[in-house]
Amino acid sequence: MTAFETRPTDPSAAADRGDVINVRGVRKYYPIKGGVLQRVTGHVKAVDGVTFDIPRGSTVGLVGESGCGKTTLGRLISGLLDPTDGGVYFGMPAAERRRLDELMTLPAEERTSQQATDLQTLTDGYRIDRLNREQRRAYRRNCQVVFQDAFSSLNPRQLVRDIVGRPLKAFGEASGDALTQRVVELLEQVGLGRQHLFRYPHQFSGGQRQRISIARALALDPEFMVLDEPTSALDVSVQAQILNLLHELQRELGLTYLFISHDLNVVRHMSDEVVVMYLGQVAEAAPSERLFTATKHPYTEALLAANPSDDEDAEDAEDAEDAEDAEVIRLAGSVPDPANPPQGCRFHTRCPVAVASCGWEVDDVVRVATEEGASLEGLSDVERRTPFDATLRFESEPLAQAALRMLRSDGRSGPMADAIIRLEHSGDSVDVVLRPRGDVPLVEVEPQHRTSCVLFTEYGGYTA
Ligand SMILES: Nc1ncnc2c1ncn2[C@@H]1O[C@H](COP(=O)(O)OP(=O)(O)OP(=O)(O)O)[C@@H](O)[C@H]1O
Ligand code: SF4
Ligand SMILES: [Mg+2]
Repeated sequence: MTAFETRPTDPSAAADRGDVINVRGVRKYYPIKGGVLQRVTGHVKAVDGVTFDIPRGSTVGLVGESGCGKTTLGRLISGLLDPTDGGVYFGMPAAERRRLDELMTLPAEERTSQQATDLQTLTDGYRIDRLNREQRRAYRRNCQVVFQDAFSSLNPRQLVRDIVGRPLKAFGEASGDALTQRVVELLEQVGLGRQHLFRYPHQFSGGQRQRISIARALALDPEFMVLDEPTSALDVSVQAQILNLLHELQRELGLTYLFISHDLNVVRHMSDEVVVMYLGQVAEAAPSERLFTATKHPYTEALLAANPSDDEDAEDAEDAEDAEDAEVIRLAGSVPDPANPPQGCRFHTRCPVAVASCGWEVDDVVRVATEEGASLEGLSDVERRTPFDATLRFESEPLAQAALRMLRSDGRSGPMADAIIRLEHSGDSVDVVLRPRGDVPLVEVEPQHRTSCVLFTEYGGYTA
């Protein structure tokens, strides 16, 4: 990869300036509709209880595999989507943020009426889905979004002057010659110029189109930008130019970024702090260098193994082969369905170091037996009382006995087998009960370093 500047990391300096954004317990569930009547049959849990801060003047990188909820979270933060639960707070002074956190930890029924009023005041004053019209308009000015696909986000029938000038017009900031002059300034700021004013998007390269998107995003002089995979569609050399441009703009204009990418190397170079997401939740969050050099979560570890850093010369053919192997070994299996996420730790179905208390459930028993080609032959029904407690019914008693033998076999060991606390056979059915567990909480295991892995929260850590 062509070199691009590494940002000077000084999270403490950013912290002194307070936060632009505080995300608290945000969820976004998309309804799944089915049948003739289009009834709601379930929900895609795209974002499921996310909490983090974006310090003023910093870049927070948001990384994770495809479908883990990055874009949905970016849209929630930019106000393009409203949350199902939780909230995104903007411009909240540190003292108020501390008060909010204090009040939120109290169960609703234990809050005094003064505390309930205080919480309501903070919510109405700073939560972006509760702002009044005027405040919301101010937020729309202050928070801009740049998407991955510049081509589809730029109107193909509009000239660059109109595309970049549109926000200025919409907010009554400029018109006529003054608008043209401002657009020229914005184009120059992103490395384009007056000669590009009267051209259409298709007359530009991918990198230039992304520059136009950035110019448009800068038009209203925002404080904060959500950059959703802004360079993923670009060639590597062009990617570096755009990333450098974003760095320069941040330095000059004091911008704050939420930088979304599936590419760990890019995130590492761009970010002061990194949030790693898995299936709608935060797996790990820490200052950038700490996340990469003192990784805590096995999922981050697996992502790193699948994305060797630039320094390791990933372009070298041998390394590329290793990277492929690493991906197969460390990130085996596919991402589970976000409409039916695994219990306990969501990563347990793919985690190479999972233990018995990670949240193994009845679905895992059926899945693992089937994947191993062993048989739960003749399994006709699974009657779940809870995700951890079910009766497996078989077509005949001998088949139920065979399944029991297979599940009990002395050769079987491993975290899932260890999690089974009851296995009983009766007639044509087998009762199976596993050790139940709720969500694994995200906890601070070192200053500013949070992870949600039982190995740290319950077992004192692990070494990769
Ligand atoms: N409007 C929608 N309706 C229903 N489901 C949706 C909608 N938008 C996203 N999803 C689902 O929500 C989950 C998260 O999607 P999202 O686009 O936020 O992921 P992502 O991390 O940005 O992925 P990618 O890296 O591919 O861009 C996915 O399972 C996706 O299919
Ligand atoms: S809690 Fe930790 S060890 Fe258990 S599955 Fe999750 S990441 Fe792996
Ligand atoms: Mg996305």
